Amino acid sequence: MTTNKVTKAVFPVAGLGTRFLPATKSIPKEIMTLVDRPLIQYAIDEARAAGIKEFIFVTSRGKSALEDYFDNAPELEAALKKPGKEHLLDVLESTNMESGAIAYVRQHKALGLGHAVWCARRLIGDEPFAVMLPDDVIAAEKPCLQQMVEAYEQTGGNMVAAMEVPPEKASAYGVLSVAEDMGSIVKVNGMVEKPKENPPSNLAVIGRYILTPQVLNNLNRKKEGAGGEIQLTDAIAEEIDDSGKVYGFRFRGQRYDCGSKAGFLQATVAFGLARPELREEFSGYLHDMMALEKAAQ
Ligand code: G1P
Repeated sequence: MTTNKVTKAVFPVAGLGTRFLPATKSIPKEIMTLVDRPLIQYAIDEARAAGIKEFIFVTSRGKSALEDYFDNAPELEAALKKPGKEHLLDVLESTNMESGAIAYVRQHKALGLGHAVWCARRLIGDEPFAVMLPDDVIAAEKPCLQQMVEAYEQTGGNMVAAMEVPPEKASAYGVLSVAEDMGSIVKVNGMVEKPKENPPSNLAVIGRYILTPQVLNNLNRKKEGAGGEIQLTDAIAEEIDDSGKVYGFRFRGQRYDCGSKAGFLQATVAFGLARPELREEFSGYLHDMMALEKAAQ
């Protein structure tokens, strides 16, 4: 089927990050580092791999460190233009963004994820677009959004990343009601944000979306949902009746919930072990720690 190319992605980064206080008193959560790269860099790299050309950040007060991070750093670059430092210069340059590729819009009030995405409506216009929640870090051979873009080229419509979760965890997620399970692609006939009881399935929404501009129209109504917030899940669910084209996509990869401390630590271990230059020393250390733990029991 012919679908419009997805070239824009929205990054809702306005949250206060209270779960990581006191660190987030002065550092945006998205700048917190996994090994040596800020969380946001993982999301940007994934977006680039999927063909995204325009990056729209929905920010709030206190997020200027994010803007600085994506700016060029001429003094640092000059200091690294020395023999033996070339590799660091390469690292730095790999984070540079093309001029005009990033836009920032402010969400003036914390009214929910749906509202944050709606704040980007004028920059999105009348095109399909991606939404990426940088808290959800996904390690995958083929980056998750790229997998979704390929699947979306077959389906069109709206697509959310999905993953099986234990029933007792479903209340922390948007949960899909499945009309037809086609393996990696699932046709959806309902979506509930953070169901308090009786989740319609154990298939949870993970923070990667490809959405039609109609979802932005639905958000215009500013309907309050779970937790009194304007929910993205609800605006997507409206498309089930309107267009009938809402899909879940079971991605191949490992997702880490870097919005929680435990998830962040797990990701740190996994990404640390995945680094060839750290693997040996780090795994030796973990091994010794485990042995000590066992001996203490
Ligand atoms: C958001 C979405 C939820 C989704 C989750 C994935 O919730 O509202 O539908 O399942 O991200 O991480 P949050 O975790 O921001 O409360």
